[in-house]
Amino acid sequence: MMYRPDVVRARKRVCWEPWVIGLVIFISLIVLAVCIGLTVHYVRYNQKKTYNYYSTLSFTTDKLYAEFGREASNNFTEMSQRLESMVKNAFYRSPLREEFVKSQIIKFSQQKHGVLAHMLLICRFHSTEDPETVDKIVQLVLHEKLQDAVGPPKVDPQSVKIKKINKTETDSYLNHCCGTRRSKTLGQGLRIVGGTEVEEGEWPWQASLQWDGSHRCGATLINATWLVSAAHCFTTYKNPARWTASFGVTIKPSKMKRGLRRIIVHEKYKHPSHDYDISLAELSSPVPYTNAVHRVCLPDAYYEFQPGDVMFVTGFGALKNDGDSGGPLVSSDARDIWYLAGIVSWGDECAKPNKPGVYTRVTALRDWITSKTGI
Ligand SMILES: *[C@@H]1O[C@H](CO)[C@@H](O)[C@H](O)[C@H]1NC(C)=O
Ligand SMILES: *[C@@H]1O[C@H](CO)[C@@H](O)[C@H](O)[C@H]1NC(C)=O
Ligand SMILES: *[C@@H]1O[C@H](CO)[C@@H](O)[C@H](O)[C@H]1NC(C)=O
Repeated sequence: MMYRPDVVRARKRVCWEPWVIGLVIFISLIVLAVCIGLTVHYVRYNQKKTYNYYSTLSFTTDKLYAEFGREASNNFTEMSQRLESMVKNAFYRSPLREEFVKSQIIKFSQQKHGVLAHMLLICRFHSTEDPETVDKIVQLVLHEKLQDAVGPPKVDPQSVKIKKINKTETDSYLNHCCGTRRSKTLGQGLRIVGGTEVEEGEWPWQASLQWDGSHRCGATLINATWLVSAAHCFTTYKNPARWTASFGVTIKPSKMKRGLRRIIVHEKYKHPSHDYDISLAELSSPVPYTNAVHRVCLPDAYYEFQPGDVMFVTGFGALKNDGDSGGPLVSSDARDIWYLAGIVSWGDECAKPNKPGVYTRVTALRDWITSKTGI
């Protein structure tokens, strides 16, 4: 009952010889070194390397898809979505489930018998994996697992070809597709009124229209030489020679600048009404598509945005009262491709409660855009 462990232990500690302490420290250091070694090994083993492929696949379909050639048409989108999910399912039913990242159709081309789909394929493998083996198993998975794919369309698994491409080429293909965005790392972006701080390439189609060098309106890139904006931006300031368009995340310094060659305001627009508040601006020369600058998709005239669709309005934070007008209202589809739903028309005062902005509906004026630009 009088057992006093504290005292016993205390006395024991006092009795430790210096060599014991040395030994303990030595062993601790060894344990620490082994832990660090294991962690480094583990991290290295878990490091993944991205493999990008340009892949082609031929298929046939009973349905007549007359508009395959027109990117962002409903037909293009529907077929792309089917093929992309077939490829995804092929990987999900294979041992490469974890390695598959995504596939994206970039175009279709006509063949003698059927259609050829051109697709980007992105996978991630451990960096320890042998690159040649990776190429082989990716191809093998597509050959074998696509056989069970349920159509339509009817795909020919044996027709699959893959070609490794580098990051630069992959980016270039993606930048030439309409409506692609770099992944949304909305991490610790600084909050500003009406939105978050923007990273490079987040809204690559956003442009700033400047009169004598000062920002007046937003605009949206729909093609290398064409912008869409609001008509009211040009009611006072009409001379294209004094306008410039700037691209990139910030207005100053901008990533790219172009003069305007021509401004087309909708014939039925009557200031200050909101009806037909749309204009087109032709750039003095085409902009090259880069990660930070490329175009949005225009929806078909009969494209239906769903009531639950999340819409984003972007701009430069309304430097002037209506500095964001003319800018885009966009929404993405199931493939994460972005479409221009509206043009900020008047008084986009998102920061003020009970004052929703007024937007020009793009689908209603889709045919007008085609009639003026051929797009
Ligand atoms: C696009 O596909 C739909 C079926 O999804 C079809 O009804 C329509 O005719 C096609 N449109 C064109 C222009 O090919
Ligand atoms: C990517 O590939 C292209 C074409 O093969 C080549 O011209 C380019 O130098 C490569 N870029 C890099 C960063 O390796
Ligand atoms: C832009 O549109 C015009 C008119 O349709 C077309 O001729 C041109 O090829 C397009 N440019 C690009 C880069 O798509």
